[in-house]
Amino acid sequence: MTARQVEPHLFVIFGATGDLTRRKLLPALFRLTHGDDPPPLDRYAILGVGRKDVDDRAFRDWVGDGMEESGLSRNEIDAWCAGHVHYHQAGGQETEDFETLKERIEALESELKLTGNRVFYLALPPPVFPTAISSLGGSGLNRGPGWTRLVIEKPFGDSLESAKRLNELLHTHFDESQVYRIDHYLGKETVQNLLVFRFANSIFESLWNRDRVECVQITVAESLGVEMRAGYYDGAGALRDMMQNHVTQLVSLIGMEVPAAFSADAVRYEKIKLLRGISPIKAEDVAFGQYTRGVVDEEEVKGYSEEPGVANNSRTETFAAMRLQLDTWRWQGVPFYIRTGKRLPRRVTQIAIVFRREPVSLFAAAGARDTNPNVLLLTLQPDEGFNLCFDVKVPGEPFQLRTLPLHFLYKEAFAPSADAYQTLLLDVLTGDQTLFVHADETEASWALYTPLLEQKLPVHHYAAGSWGPTEADLLLERHGHAWMEPLETGRYHGATHTDLP
Ligand code: BG6
Repeated sequence: MTARQVEPHLFVIFGATGDLTRRKLLPALFRLTHGDDPPPLDRYAILGVGRKDVDDRAFRDWVGDGMEESGLSRNEIDAWCAGHVHYHQAGGQETEDFETLKERIEALESELKLTGNRVFYLALPPPVFPTAISSLGGSGLNRGPGWTRLVIEKPFGDSLESAKRLNELLHTHFDESQVYRIDHYLGKETVQNLLVFRFANSIFESLWNRDRVECVQITVAESLGVEMRAGYYDGAGALRDMMQNHVTQLVSLIGMEVPAAFSADAVRYEKIKLLRGISPIKAEDVAFGQYTRGVVDEEEVKGYSEEPGVANNSRTETFAAMRLQLDTWRWQGVPFYIRTGKRLPRRVTQIAIVFRREPVSLFAAAGARDTNPNVLLLTLQPDEGFNLCFDVKVPGEPFQLRTLPLHFLYKEAFAPSADAYQTLLLDVLTGDQTLFVHADETEASWALYTPLLEQKLPVHHYAAGSWGPTEADLLLERHGHAWMEPLETGRYHGATHTDLP
């Protein structure tokens, strides 16, 4: 396959003096042009826009310090920054500031002989999105001499109402085809591989339905706590920070129907359809939690309410689990259990497809204990790969069964994959919206979760280092299920044996 063509362009980053710029965006843009197989890209420039009063040189130094931490060579970074990175100081996000910005953009484009293609990346705090969007429109920067694309970081709204308002504002100034809403989970290779796994391997597709599947479980666990982000996180919580976006993206990719084509329109259409098919979530199908002191990775850690910047009576949930019912022909009656949380025992994102048991337990009839159901475990991070667990006979006597995995590990087959931002920024530059969230998708997702936020559900405590509050276990137990403890790819720790007495 040939590398995709990237046309000459100017990449403008608003909020350029924030950490995202030097930790993620610029390293990703640098790697795009320094990889083994870089896309042909000769004329481009990056313009950081921020409030700080610094010149190009000071900005490049600051950027260079941060980029070096991503393991890149300082000499190469400095040479690259000197050739491509510029800075523009703007007082705020008001239209007058955008008039001078427009002049700077046009001057750079004519000096560097760029053709007027522009990306505007809003790496800004969400409360200033609306002013920045209106000012881009007001100054005419929403339509340029070439293509103009707008990238928006998460969170996209904090409720159905606010997401709708933001979409309306965007659509006043931009066409949906110009808008790239980022969910960095979609840029992870293994998340994209879910589509390939399902739609390039027909054996799974015939099993992927209510006839064969008992339940689906999705765990997105982090061992880290809130760190220094209380200012944002305490007002957001796990539902807004992780569930509404990242976890819900995984639900759509696992649950969606086969798209008509591998194109942005077709894939996003199916995801939206799936989200709209999820029944309203009942309060009894939800468990919220907040971590208290505990031990993670053998270290004692503080409780959430003791973290810097968190009020000691905070009711913010750092854990959320729920049972979703998909009202679709394919999934009727198959619960999707989803959970995410901070300060859980380890960082792991895993999807378990638990298949139905055999209708008659042949070996139990001979006096053996139960077999285990077949489970397909898709691990998205770390140890990316999958386990397909099934029972085998242990050789010899007595008659015993053991559950073992067939496994595939990405790192055994491939070199480490690109960072999610690198994948997503290349997509923006080549105009591919498949891995970006459509306006209707944001609204369908908020429509599901906003009623829960309005109900002020109880928040239960769980010790840091545990898998969440017991209420999260009860969610499943009531329906005869239990959470699968996330496993390492290639292992099956929970093997129970079926022994003949
Ligand atoms: C971000 C959340 O979107 O995703 C963070 O705001 C979270 O709270 C992070 O830690 C997790 O991303 P990853 O790629 O480390 O799984």
